[in-house]
Amino acid sequence: MQSSTKKSASASAQDYALLRGIACDVATSAAEMIRVRRAEVFASPGGRDSDSVRSKTSETDPVTIVDVESETLVRESLARLRPGDGFLGEEATGNTEGASETGVVWVVDPIDGTVNFMYGVPAYAVSIAAQIDGKTVAGAVVDVPQGWVYSAALGAGATVSREGFGTRALHVSETESLGMALVSTGFGYKAERRIAQARLAGTLLPVVRDLRRIGAAALDLCLVAAGSLDAHVEHGLNPWDFAAGSLIAQEAGALVRIPPTSARSHEGELVLIATPKVYHELAGVLEEIGALGPIE
Ligand code: IPD
Ligand code: CA
Ligand code: CA
Repeated sequence: MQSSTKKSASASAQDYALLRGIACDVATSAAEMIRVRRAEVFASPGGRDSDSVRSKTSETDPVTIVDVESETLVRESLARLRPGDGFLGEEATGNTEGASETGVVWVVDPIDGTVNFMYGVPAYAVSIAAQIDGKTVAGAVVDVPQGWVYSAALGAGATVSREGFGTRALHVSETESLGMALVSTGFGYKAERRIAQARLAGTLLPVVRDLRRIGAAALDLCLVAAGSLDAHVEHGLNPWDFAAGSLIAQEAGALVRIPPTSARSHEGELVLIATPKVYHELAGVLEEIGALGPIE
């Protein structure tokens, strides 16, 4: 692996399988650490008000000490296992994405669903994707409270596994119409963005089976992959929210529309991931209201 162009020309299924295994192992280790640290830091409700939490892009956008610890563990583990790869982590503890010597860049959300994590709502995850030329080729999402490991490699399908439960292949649902679709969405951390998102949710609610707001986009995408949801639609996600989950959903048969890895939340671009028939109908509704492109 010399340069990103050379690498992408020669990358093989074997390389992707190797990267997938590393993503699974490292995300599983981070999830174990997060479980232990949650009990230590957030066991009492007072943990939420302590100096273990600070705000990021708005007062309601938190980062906890455990988000930073998780990212550090992931970054250091990857550096040990894959020296020379680039790293793009949400908490920016040591990003080197522009300086990959191998063509591989790891895109990492150390805790997706931080608000759930703080409050003890059991829906938060570690998300790790390996990208080559901005395209995810392998990824893993570990559901921390349940211990489920979702993963995929490009062209190799998607699976979910858990110790003691074995491994099974993931397939999207066979839901055929938007009217019968269970659709998840999410909301950004800024009030202006939420006004536009609420308007969109108001348009969708009467035309779908129901809406869900689980609070961890990486998990939403894995649930689409597993057929437990029929679609996910959200504007303004960051690449670390969807990099691994979008490949997992795609490999499970979903149609996928995602922004480039260079796009950031403030640009308000759309992530639309759904089982095929629902995808087309949902895209039609979004087009009608001008929401296939970015929102404010
Ligand atoms: C958030 C979650 C949430 C989504 C937000 C994301 P974080 O990530 O994925 O479901 O609606 O847009 O920012 O902040 O918990 O890593
Ligand atoms: Ca996230
Ligand atoms: Ca996060």
